[in-house]
Amino acid sequence: MPRTVFLGTGHFVPEKVVTNDDLAARFDTSDEWVQQRTGIKERHHVDFNKEPMGASDLGVRAARAALADAGVSKDEVDLIVYATLSPDRAFPGDGVLVQAKLDVPAGVPALDVRNQCSGFLYGLAVADAFIRQGSYKRVLLIGSEVHSSGLDFSDEGRDVAVLFGDGAAAVVLGASEDEKRGVLSVHLHADGRFADELQCGYPSSAEMPRATPEKVAAGRHWPKMNGKAVFKHAVTRMPEVVLEALGKNGLTPADLKLLIPHQANLRISEMVQRRLELRDDQVFNNIMRYGNTTAASIPLALDEARHEGRVQPGDLVCLTAFGAGFTWGAALVRF
Ligand SMILES: CC(C)(COP(=O)(O)OP(=O)(O)OC[C@H]1O[C@@H](n2cnc3c(N)ncnc32)[C@H](O)[C@@H]1OP(=O)(O)O)[C@@H](O)C(=O)NCCC(=O)NCCS
Repeated sequence: MPRTVFLGTGHFVPEKVVTNDDLAARFDTSDEWVQQRTGIKERHHVDFNKEPMGASDLGVRAARAALADAGVSKDEVDLIVYATLSPDRAFPGDGVLVQAKLDVPAGVPALDVRNQCSGFLYGLAVADAFIRQGSYKRVLLIGSEVHSSGLDFSDEGRDVAVLFGDGAAAVVLGASEDEKRGVLSVHLHADGRFADELQCGYPSSAEMPRATPEKVAAGRHWPKMNGKAVFKHAVTRMPEVVLEALGKNGLTPADLKLLIPHQANLRISEMVQRRLELRDDQVFNNIMRYGNTTAASIPLALDEARHEGRVQPGDLVCLTAFGAGFTWGAALVRF
């Protein structure tokens, strides 16, 4: 049975950097508050006055970088998997938009994944299953988000608005017969009883009509979060699923070269690190510069870790995520 290997990685973030002080000029917050609670110093936002872009535009740029890194042509891609919570359109999904913009040949399937911060891992699990069963050989897996056009930059939305940033990252996955490397296993979980704790419920198919100017004026379309509940579950579920992945493969945290946790909050990552008793050099964080880029956060961190030389051939790397749903998961990869 073939193994799934990472052939290349790439990322793209819009040029405009938004610091905590920039946000403090728009609503009641401070650099000190944001850094103390989250570790975030700055994030990137699409500049809608200069160059408007949707998540698919960021995704295409990240995909080009990953294909170039892999030395794989867009004509060799036989499946696109695209994860986002901020698609350009309600339908069709961004997967087909990316296919058209990249000029991936007609007929190649494009699958959209809607699992928020766990989207990349859910996408990886799907791609891995297809590759193992021999259906596809070159999968382009993209995570991309434009949050900045969907955040409430007023005092009311400040808890959420400081956390999220725009960005995209992609990986090219391939099939290998090498038994010693590749994706060892992917572990996925969800508990929909917590759907209300982090969500954006509008427009909704459960309302007639789906959208009204009055409900938009009332702010129904802004994301809502119970930050404390998210924090509490994230620091429990991520260590739990990392241990599940390691245990399944007869390994322990000491065997890990690197843990790449979803970049939700530096304080969450630090607690996950403590609970797993990992050293600083075993954990990669870059949330300080990007904020939470949701489906893009793990591949963006992976791409930077690779380019910093922190992921070398033979290294054991664990990717883990937790997010809205709640959904969570982990993947263990031998590079
Ligand atoms: C969002 C988060 C940083 C808030 O930290 P917290 O310690 O829980 O803070 P609270 O929500 O209790 O708010 C504390 C105070 O700060 C205020 N506050 C909230 N956001 C603020 C901001 N951006 N700037 C300044 N003050 C803020 C609150 O209004 C509250 O004020 P009050 O005490 O007068 O009522 C934290 O809960 C968190 O990171 N949760 C996880 C979020 C996450 O990762 N989401 C994505 C998951 S994938």
